[in-house]
Amino acid sequence: MNLISIADLSRDDILRLLDSAEAFRARRGHHGLPLQGKSLAMIFEKPSTRTRVSLEVAAAELGGHPLYLSAGELQLGRGETIADTARVLSRYVHGITARVYSHNTVVQLAEHASVPVINALSDWEHPLQILADLQTMRQRFPALEGLRVGWIGDGNNVCNSLILASAILGMEITVASPRLYQPKAPILEQAKELGGHPQVVEEPAAAAAGANVLVTDTWVSMGDEAQEAERLRVFGKYQVNSGLLGLAADDVIALHCLPAHRGQEITDEVMDGPRSAVFDEAENRMHTSKAVMAWLMGEK
Ligand code: CP
Ligand code: NVA
Repeated sequence: MNLISIADLSRDDILRLLDSAEAFRARRGHHGLPLQGKSLAMIFEKPSTRTRVSLEVAAAELGGHPLYLSAGELQLGRGETIADTARVLSRYVHGITARVYSHNTVVQLAEHASVPVINALSDWEHPLQILADLQTMRQRFPALEGLRVGWIGDGNNVCNSLILASAILGMEITVASPRLYQPKAPILEQAKELGGHPQVVEEPAAAAAGANVLVTDTWVSMGDEAQEAERLRVFGKYQVNSGLLGLAADDVIALHCLPAHRGQEITDEVMDGPRSAVFDEAENRMHTSKAVMAWLMGEK
């Protein structure tokens, strides 16, 4: 079993993982060591603060041994194939996480590895992030089902995983993005097949109206740097600010996977204000990663 897409998980899988993440949170320092004697290879093609540190600490606190592997310093960077890398690492370690540019790289790793592979962000999805987002929502609301989620900004990797999760869990999602940066047809189709009905609009106000959860992310993801000037021009009004928050439900929370570009997609006022849950969300990366690793790599 791998975690490449959030849609690799059923509704029950997700709820079980979130229960497990809460248990790991409540019993930090006192929980068991399901990864004792196990190693985790963590391949990174891109920078990371939260994912790297939360995975590394999570693996260590579960009794495992995490290895940070910068892709450029592996033979992968000199042309060794993804398949051979997956086969060789599988002889040493008990799980592989990978943060990659192309989604196909993590798909290929999973195809050729004989140990679980976990997507630590690709250009198409960020499932670990969405598990942390869901844990954060669950900490603030009695149920996920029926929650109204508004996404403001780029229809990117994080947005894709959130759209799929919404379909799986029965949350109502509306995505507001500039026309050329809206979620792509295959994700919307997949969400519909999973029973969802994601709405896509251009006006941020339409996604914010009545929302319980307002989510945003950078306008310029890793790998999109060449389009930065154009993106900064087009995304100007896709900002989570006090005005937008005022259109949402009274109990709204603001989420952002971070890193934030304060003053662009989110204001200081919102990030540091009473409706912000972004630092709980960041913390939850560690608890949810423990849940995922204990499930995929722990003793069965
Ligand atoms: N949210 C997230 O994945 O952050 P990092 O890029 O710092 O890992
Ligand atoms: N969408 C962002 C998320 C960073 C955690 C990116 O891919 O760069």
